[in-house]
Amino acid sequence: MQRVVTLKFPVGVMAGSKSISYIRDGLIAFNTFGGMLDHLFQVVLKEAKLEFAHSLYHEWRLYTSCTLFNMLCLRKVRDKSNALTYVEFGAGEGHTLWFCLNYANSFPNHRALIDNSKFIIYDSFKGIDPSLPSDIVLADTKKGPYLGCNIDRFKERFNGVRNLILREGYLPGSLDVHPQVKGVDFLHIDTNSEIADAAAMRQSIENVNSGGIVLIDDYGFPQFRSTFDAINKLCDEICLPRPCTLPTGQGLLLI
Ligand SMILES: C[S@@+](CC[C@H](N)C(=O)[O-])C[C@H]1O[C@@H](n2cnc3c(N)ncnc32)[C@H](O)[C@@H]1O
Repeated sequence: MQRVVTLKFPVGVMAGSKSISYIRDGLIAFNTFGGMLDHLFQVVLKEAKLEFAHSLYHEWRLYTSCTLFNMLCLRKVRDKSNALTYVEFGAGEGHTLWFCLNYANSFPNHRALIDNSKFIIYDSFKGIDPSLPSDIVLADTKKGPYLGCNIDRFKERFNGVRNLILREGYLPGSLDVHPQVKGVDFLHIDTNSEIADAAAMRQSIENVNSGGIVLIDDYGFPQFRSTFDAINKLCDEICLPRPCTLPTGQGLLLI
């Protein structure tokens, strides 16, 4: 949700600048938001708004995810590699997956790569594990599937994706049943649960390729402080740099 407001500043501090408030995403920005000027992103956003009941107010986060993913696609194509592996822990109703797929598919040179690539999704498809503590109480994830999206609805939505692999079950236990694959290029962690997020990262990080991207969705949100602490503790323990906090709240690690 954007709102254009004009703020008054002390003389010399961007006087009269227009700012854009993505207030529900924790952002008031004076700088250019590339997504707003990116025609391809705007087309994907417009279509997504027809697909999802969610307002998709987190535009800047979605833009960050899909442009990073698209950069990986570009690198793969340039290196004449014909596939990549996308892994997501906590897919909800699939916003990030949708944007990554559709934004990258807007580039004709990336379509064959996307078609050959693997998209591996870990989710309970039943919301947060009620037996695990979580940072915030999200009515929509605590009580059953996230925004009502169960596994059948998810499958139906991503029906056209050739190599979509769904790993249903509560994390971290589901990782024993479905161990993480090797050769991950893009890792998105977003369960809203510090225990599940940290366990997912612990099990996956060694499987991420050099040059891979790790994005932790809720890392910098004030209400997810225990996720920030749990991920940092893990990074310190395994001698990995702590993620960079992006203004969107996401944590970014380049491997
Ligand atoms: C905020 S949503 C993910 C949003 C998604 N990344 C997107 O881009 O739309 C969080 C998801 O994590 C899942 N989840 C939460 N705790 C989990 C756990 N312990 N094991 C597996 N999935 C879990 C929920 O079912 C929900 O679908």
